Amino acid sequence: MSDSTLPVIPDVVGSEQTGRRGLLQLGITLAGACYAGAIGFPVYRYLATPARRAELAESEVTTVSIPATGLPGPGTATIFLFGSRPTLLIHHEDNHYAAFDAVCSHLGCTVAYQPENKRIFCPCHGGVYDVNTGAVTGGPPPKGLKVYKVEAKDDHVVISKA
Ligand code: FES
Repeated sequence: MSDSTLPVIPDVVGSEQTGRRGLLQLGITLAGACYAGAIGFPVYRYLATPARRAELAESEVTTVSIPATGLPGPGTATIFLFGSRPTLLIHHEDNHYAAFDAVCSHLGCTVAYQPENKRIFCPCHGGVYDVNTGAVTGGPPPKGLKVYKVEAKDDHVVISKA
């Protein structure tokens, strides 16, 4: 009797084990992915959300409208949020407004209006900015403050990105 006459028996037992093993591996992989997601997503949100939220809030806001009745009188200033950025709105004595990003270009401190010295001053390292243009007039800041466009409309003051 030669080998060519032996009947061929299919490997039924082997394929069944392969199928169960594959199903088990798939289940373990899915469980691992769910476990990683359950841990990773909150960590991602914790680390990424504040910066991302601030970035989105700033990019989405292009205009801020403030009721004129809520603003301080001539010769004074106020700070409000333009998105997430503190913004300085100066009401000059001649009744015109000027608005600047209130974050110092040196190391990021918040600047303040000093009407008695007619300047915008950064208390951290003595940076000084012009009250009309936001240009640097003294101290270490490398560049001027970002300028916003200001329009008085009816009973509101509208501040927008220039
Ligand atoms: S942070 Fe404003 S001068 Fe340094």
